[in-house]
Amino acid sequence: MVLSDVSWWMWVILFLLIVAIRDIFFQKKHTISHNFPIVGHLRFLLESIGPEMRQYFVSNNREELPFNRIERGWIYASAKKENNYEGFGTDRDIYANQHMFVNNAMLPYKPEGNHPSLKDKSFLPCAKVMGAYNNRRRPFRPASVINVSAMSFGSLSAKAMDSLNKGVKIAGAYHNTGEGGLSPYHSNGGDIIFQVGTGYFGIRDDEGRFSMDKLVSLVEANPFIKAIEIKLSQGAKPGKGGVLPAAKITEEISKIRHVPLGRDVISPPSHSAFKDIPGLIEFIENIAQLTGLPVGVKAAIGKIEQWEELADLMIATGKGPDFITVDGGEGGTGAAPPSFADHVSLPWVYGFSELYKVFLKRNITDRIVFIGSGRLGFPAKAAMAFAMGADCINVAREAMLSIGCIQAQVCHTNRCPSGVATQNKWLQNGIDPTLKSERLSQYFKTFSKEFIEVTHAAGYEHPCQFTMRDININVDDKNLTSKLDKTYKYEKSPVPFTSMQALKDCPYLGGKAPQA
Ligand SMILES: Cc1cc2nc3c(=O)[nH]c(=O)nc-3n(C[C@H](O)[C@H](O)[C@H](O)COP(=O)(O)O)c2cc1C
Repeated sequence: MVLSDVSWWMWVILFLLIVAIRDIFFQKKHTISHNFPIVGHLRFLLESIGPEMRQYFVSNNREELPFNRIERGWIYASAKKENNYEGFGTDRDIYANQHMFVNNAMLPYKPEGNHPSLKDKSFLPCAKVMGAYNNRRRPFRPASVINVSAMSFGSLSAKAMDSLNKGVKIAGAYHNTGEGGLSPYHSNGGDIIFQVGTGYFGIRDDEGRFSMDKLVSLVEANPFIKAIEIKLSQGAKPGKGGVLPAAKITEEISKIRHVPLGRDVISPPSHSAFKDIPGLIEFIENIAQLTGLPVGVKAAIGKIEQWEELADLMIATGKGPDFITVDGGEGGTGAAPPSFADHVSLPWVYGFSELYKVFLKRNITDRIVFIGSGRLGFPAKAAMAFAMGADCINVAREAMLSIGCIQAQVCHTNRCPSGVATQNKWLQNGIDPTLKSERLSQYFKTFSKEFIEVTHAAGYEHPCQFTMRDININVDDKNLTSKLDKTYKYEKSPVPFTSMQALKDCPYLGGKAPQA
C-alpha cells in the first residue's frame, strides 16, 4: 500500500492519535490535556476567543469595561462622521448610583452674529494659557480642549502614531509623546507636549541619566514642541515604572530611545533627576528657564500630603508647574500588573477632587492649567470634569478606538489585531494613516461640537463656565441626587473668561486656529 492510497480520514485519525500520545505521555505542563487528551485543547481555544465571543454575542450594550459597546459605537460613528445618535431614548438606568446629569438652563445660550462657534462648530480652545502665570518665554494656549494623551512610540505602532499625529494637526489639538521619546511619527507639525518619564528616553546619557543638553537641543530642533510634561506616575501603574518587552524593541525604537536592542527596557519607578518636592520645583524651573516652555507634571493621585507640600512651596517661592495632568486609576496602559491597574491610586473623580482642593484652599488654581484623563472622552463626562475644575482633557484609549482599536486588550503581547498597539509590521500594515488621521480628527471635532452643544444647553458660552452646581450625581437611595459641590465638598474657583472671540484672538493659541 502506497501513501496516496491512505484515505483522508485515516490521516485525521493518525493525527489525533499522535496528539493524544503527546498529551498523555510527553507533555507535562497541562493536567487538563493529560486527563482529557485531544478535547482538553478545546478549553484553551475557547478561552482564547472568549473575550471576542462575549463582546460580539453575549455582553449587553452597557456592561463591558473599560468601554462598553455604546461608548465604542459612539466613538466609531463620530470618527467616521456617521449617525452617532441613539433612537427611542436612553437605555441607561438613570436612577442608578453614580449616574450623572447636566442641569440644563431654561433657555440655552445662543451664539449670535460673528460668534466663533457659528463659524466653526468645533472651535473649542482651552480657556487658560499654560505658562502665563510663571511668565514663561513661550506660553501656550491649547487650541482644543480634547487632546491625545501620553502613549509612546513602542507601545503604539509607527502607523498608529503617524495617524494620531496627522490627526491632531487637522483637528488643531496637541499630541503628548508619552515617555518613549520624540519619533519621526510625532513630527508632522501638530502641537506636541514632550513627556519626560523616569527612563528619560531620547534625552538620556549612556548611563540612562537625564541630559538637559539633549532636551534643550531637542526642543530647539523641533519648534512644534509646545510644553514639557514630567511624568510622576500614571493611573494604571503608579509607582511601578514600566517595561517595554524586548520583542517590541526594533532598531528604530532603540535609536529613538537611546536603549540597547534585544533586552527588555525598564523605566524605573522614580526619577533620578530629583528626589524630593523642592528638587522637583528646581527641575521644573531649570527646564522652563532653558527651553522657555511651560512645564507641568502628570500623576495619579493617592496620598495628598506631598501635593500640599508642593502647593505650600509654590506660594513660598512663586514658582512651580504650569499645568497638572491628573490621571484616574481607571487609566489605560500598554502593560501593567492587575494588582496595580485595579487597585493602586484613586479613580479620577476622587483623585481630581482631592487634588484640586489642595490648590483651591491656597487660592492658587489660577496658576495651573488642570488636565484630566481617565475615560473622559465623552461630552457629558467632560462637562462633569470641567465643572470640577478641569481645563482640558486628554484621551488615550478613546483616540486608539477612533483609529480602529477593537478593545482586544492584548497591547502587552505585541499581537494587537488592529495593528494599533504592536510593532509587528504585517499587523500594522492594515492601517492607512491618511484615512485614520481623518478619523481621529473627526472624532475630536464631533466631540467638541457636542461638548459645545451641551455647554450651550446649560446656558454657557464655554465649558470653563460650568460650576459644581451644574452637575448632579445619584448618590444613594435616600438622598437620590446630590450636586457635585455637596458630593465632593468644594466649589471650583471661576476661570477668567471673557469670550470665545478673545480666545480666538490670543497670540499664544496653538495649532491651526480657524481664521475669521
Ligand atoms: C497603550 C498605552 C500607552 C500609554 N503610555 C503612557 C505613557 O507613556 N506615559 C503616560 O503618562 N501615560 C501613558 N498611558 C496612559 C494614558 O496617557 C492615559 O493617561 C490613560 O490611558 C487614561 O486615559 P484614557 O482613559 O483616555 O485611556 C498609556 C496608555 C495606553 C493605553
